[in-house]
Amino acid sequence: MSDFPEWTPLADIADFAGERKLVRSIYGIDLLLMLDGADVVVAHNHCTHMGRPLDRGKLMAGQISCPFHGACFDLRTGAARSGPAVAPLHLFPARVDGQTIYADLRNKPVTLWARPT
Ligand code: FES
Repeated sequence: MSDFPEWTPLADIADFAGERKLVRSIYGIDLLLMLDGADVVVAHNHCTHMGRPLDRGKLMAGQISCPFHGACFDLRTGAARSGPAVAPLHLFPARVDGQTIYADLRNKPVTLWARPT
């Protein structure tokens, strides 16, 4: 837990401007907002294989693939559906109130990869 509020405003629906992905960095957390049908999904914008950003990945119905080595993640559960990633993608509880997208950022993602120093 942290001192973050329960629901943090991230963006407005209009900010997608016709796209299906939107990147935000809030409280130092890199976030990827995605439109999956009528749902808004908020995920950590780092693949769990080597930590590279997912926002240029291919968004398909119910999943996103990593543009670097092809890992695929389920947008409902975060589960890695195909490798090389094994650990699930961190998803944040999200809701839309009016036009504003909120997420609960209190449980921050665990870093499972090593970054080069
Ligand atoms: S960094 Fe995403 S699959 Fe390797």
